[in-house]
Amino acid sequence: MSPGEKLDPLPDPFILQPPVFHPVVPYVTTIFGGLRAGKMVMLQGVVPLAAHRFQVDFQCGCSVHPRPDIAIHFNPRFHTTKPHVICNTLHAGRWQAEARWPRLALQRGASFLILFLFANEEMKVSVNGQHFLHYRYRLPLSRVNTLGIFGDILVKAVGFLNINPFVEGGSEYPVGHEVPCSRVLRGLWPGQVIVLRGLVLPEPKDFTLSLRDEAARIPVTLRASFTDRTLAWISPWGQKKLILAPFLFYPRRFFEVLLLCQEGGLKLALNGQGLGATSLDQQVLERLRELRISGSVQLYCVHS
Ligand code: GAL
Repeated sequence: MSPGEKLDPLPDPFILQPPVFHPVVPYVTTIFGGLRAGKMVMLQGVVPLAAHRFQVDFQCGCSVHPRPDIAIHFNPRFHTTKPHVICNTLHAGRWQAEARWPRLALQRGASFLILFLFANEEMKVSVNGQHFLHYRYRLPLSRVNTLGIFGDILVKAVGFLNINPFVEGGSEYPVGHEVPCSRVLRGLWPGQVIVLRGLVLPEPKDFTLSLRDEAARIPVTLRASFTDRTLAWISPWGQKKLILAPFLFYPRRFFEVLLLCQEGGLKLALNGQGLGATSLDQQVLERLRELRISGSVQLYCVHS
């Protein structure tokens, strides 16, 4: 870079929120900048042959307890003689009046493309290129910042689009946390999930996520090295256990790390793809007191 040339702190607008491919369901992700009129969410997938139901929820937040409000719940049901779609809104823990659409264009065993288009007063949904329904907002669209996909569905891709790509600046990338960054933990318990979302910096070296206990021991570290393009679990003795999967971190690209605590260890998913688990005793997990993140990344969400 020549002297005086300014470093653009924002990534290119086209990577504002890249599509996610083959995420593991249940899949919950942040919608950068939230929803507003003019945005679209594209969902490409397959309905499994034995599908009962699935749901796509446009949520106001991602907490688990208390349950967040769901501004729009889109719920195809296949288990009745007349498959149909239910749309509804969950407000303060209560479902409102259901709206129901028969003649569901989705079929068990078939692939589909659904477009959710957010207009001023309502959401319009098309299935395989045909308009299917519209649902009037019952909660302000501006409260929606999270997409959740649950149930019997195989997701091929999720995309976040604008009707007019040219009106979009790079303005809605959220403000990032600087690293190193640390979060207090009160132990990790089965079912608990750590979520990190961020952006890899332009010339990355490495990225480290370590879990520390009360005696500042580090029973486990997850390290991505950009020099040899490897991802590995590092033991307290510095032993490296490579995670054998394609290296999914790229400079200036969004990433999402999910660590799911389960009996006997931590399960890892990167950009929605399951990458196995590392074993740790429950006592070790319960004694964890700190999550520390360092390296060549900027973080947008750290949730534990
Ligand atoms: C309920 C169902 C919920 C949700 C809701 C929509 O019966 O348990 O998952 O689909 O209907 O109204």
